[in-house]
Amino acid sequence: MTKKLGVGVVGASGWMAGALTAGIEYVDGDLDKAVKHPDSVVTGLCARNQDILKERKELWGLDQADLYSDYEDMLKSPRIDAVVISVPNHLHAKFALQALEAGKHVFLEKPLATDPDESAHLLAAAAKSPCTTKVDYILVHYDEQKKLRRLIKDGAFGQVASTHFTYRHPIQIGASADQQWKLSRAISGGAIPMGICHAISLTVFQVDSDPVEVICKSAPALDRDFDYPPRQDLLITFANGVVSVVQGNIDFAEKYDARHNVCGTQGQFDYVPSNPRKSRAIWSSRSMAREYTADPDFAKDHMDSGDVWEHQCAATVNDFVQNAKQGIKDPVLGFESPLVQRTEAIIWAAEKSSASEGDRIRI
Ligand SMILES: NC(=O)c1ccc[n+]([C@@H]2O[C@H](COP(=O)([O-])OP(=O)(O)OC[C@H]3O[C@@H](n4cnc5c(N)ncnc54)[C@H](O)[C@@H]3O)[C@@H](O)[C@H]2O)c1
Repeated sequence: MTKKLGVGVVGASGWMAGALTAGIEYVDGDLDKAVKHPDSVVTGLCARNQDILKERKELWGLDQADLYSDYEDMLKSPRIDAVVISVPNHLHAKFALQALEAGKHVFLEKPLATDPDESAHLLAAAAKSPCTTKVDYILVHYDEQKKLRRLIKDGAFGQVASTHFTYRHPIQIGASADQQWKLSRAISGGAIPMGICHAISLTVFQVDSDPVEVICKSAPALDRDFDYPPRQDLLITFANGVVSVVQGNIDFAEKYDARHNVCGTQGQFDYVPSNPRKSRAIWSSRSMAREYTADPDFAKDHMDSGDVWEHQCAATVNDFVQNAKQGIKDPVLGFESPLVQRTEAIIWAAEKSSASEGDRIRI
């Protein structure tokens, strides 16, 4: 395909969709420089609030975008080759299935689904479809995570024994009625699909093995009116012997706090977001003769503030565009990829364990 990929964004008046839309239309998602992307163009914007769509279309120079209030209408357009789905979570699997049936490539905001049956159905449909798919586990795109994976593969830490990833994030919930869905289990899927899945995806990315057992304990809200427990702590055992702790709290009073630790027989790695940028990444490696010291160059593009406009949105959506244009499946974050399949398995095992107050769930 030599022409630009025509992309329709559903949920296009939302926060996350804004940053993704900019990444489709402009190089580096930079609205100020306004250099049009050579490979992708926004050909559709769909949401319930048409005023915001009209405003974004005009203000951001999205001159090729048709406006829709109905998703199925947008899917019928031949100008739409691919969709970006960034709507409340309970619509994710349904909208993704509809897009695959219509022959459109799918970029899906996390989570993949809000229950295990929907998730399994969608994974099976994607496996049969020729379309490119991607779940937006955006943190996998950060330089910190790519470099950490390289070090693990190079044996810098020897045999990895344990990992610890946290996702403590006071998720943003605007005052409008539209935003209150994040407090509801029926719509959000609960704290793990809502956000803690990010830390699970990073754990799976680094451990790179099949999960075999999950234990999860939940705790009630302390700050805001979630109708589900926003604190979930997971203990995951992998086939390669690594034991991983994932601690999540989306009702956190502090600012975004995502800590990462990998510990092995030859060294260890820490990412501490509250440190000054230069000392956020600290690591040691006996095989590389490195003491446990800060590495100022390790994580230059890892902003990690929890603000979607500072995320690597342009990079993640552009990666999807390139795969879709070449007609290839995404080996890292496609629905068929080991990372996504293993992450889904952990999410639903954790939900089951949490519901039974900490039972061991074999996968
Ligand atoms: N990857 C990340 O780091 C990250 C960060 C933030 C949000 N998200 C995800 O992005 C998605 C959107 O979150 P948000 O904070 O932007 O939410 P939001 O409430 O601000 O936006 C939701 C959008 O969906 C639209 N919508 C709702 N029902 C619709 C329907 N039936 N048809 C068409 N449009 C409909 C609304 O009009 C709105 O435009 C969520 O799935 C969330 O999990 C991901």
